[in-house]
Amino acid sequence: MNFQTEIADNPQHAAEACGAQLLVRLRDALDARGSAALAISGGTTPKLLFAWLAARGFPWDDVHLFWVDERAVSPEDPQSNYKLALDNWLAESEFPEGNIHRIEAELPVSEAAERYEGDLKRHFGLAPGEFPVFDVIQQGMGSDVHTASLFPGEPLIMDRKGLAAAVYVEKLKAARVTLLPEVLRRARTTMMLVTGPDKAQGLEIVFRGPENLLEAPAQLTRHHAGEVIWYLDDAAAAGIR
Ligand code: 6PG
Repeated sequence: MNFQTEIADNPQHAAEACGAQLLVRLRDALDARGSAALAISGGTTPKLLFAWLAARGFPWDDVHLFWVDERAVSPEDPQSNYKLALDNWLAESEFPEGNIHRIEAELPVSEAAERYEGDLKRHFGLAPGEFPVFDVIQQGMGSDVHTASLFPGEPLIMDRKGLAAAVYVEKLKAARVTLLPEVLRRARTTMMLVTGPDKAQGLEIVFRGPENLLEAPAQLTRHHAGEVIWYLDDAAAAGIR
């Protein structure tokens, strides 16, 4: 396990620590390769991170933005992960529109996943069988230990071939599009931003529990090729100190 852990005293400070390091990693990527690729998550936790990023000046011109996952809704829907980033960050910043690689989840999800795969292949110049390497992937974790839209029981947790796929989440009775494990695994840096007392038990399972990827998908991070940094608050970290 290649985990680093940063524990803050509250969610705001966890988001700030994550944001500061995210910008360092993007700058490193720009210096090394002239462009950077970032994938972000949705849900609720990254809202503070996005607001923090919105207040920062950064040369976004050569940064390309993708999503870890998206709900099967229109980009105007309050549930949309794209909308969360747009409202809290992108609309406020000078982020170039052409660098925003939204998942078109208003389409039938299998089509949205196919189009997203096509976008990834084009952007990263992938030959068949190759995988993109993101500079930074920011992920979250649910209290049920899901990450991305890989929920417990989802067979695609064991997939090591695909880039993105449509999934149906039975417990939410909703479809989503998600990046697949091999793409997540290859990120140079994975930033897990996880806060709140409802995540404490799940974190114990990820850090200390017996391995069961199908039941605890966030344990996939144990196998990541790059660095994995967990940005937590005291409440979430209660069980792993
Ligand atoms: C989503 C996410 C998802 C998220 C976790 C944690 O669309 O819901 O991208 O994977 O990271 O569900 O969500 P919270 O931040 O809301 O706890």
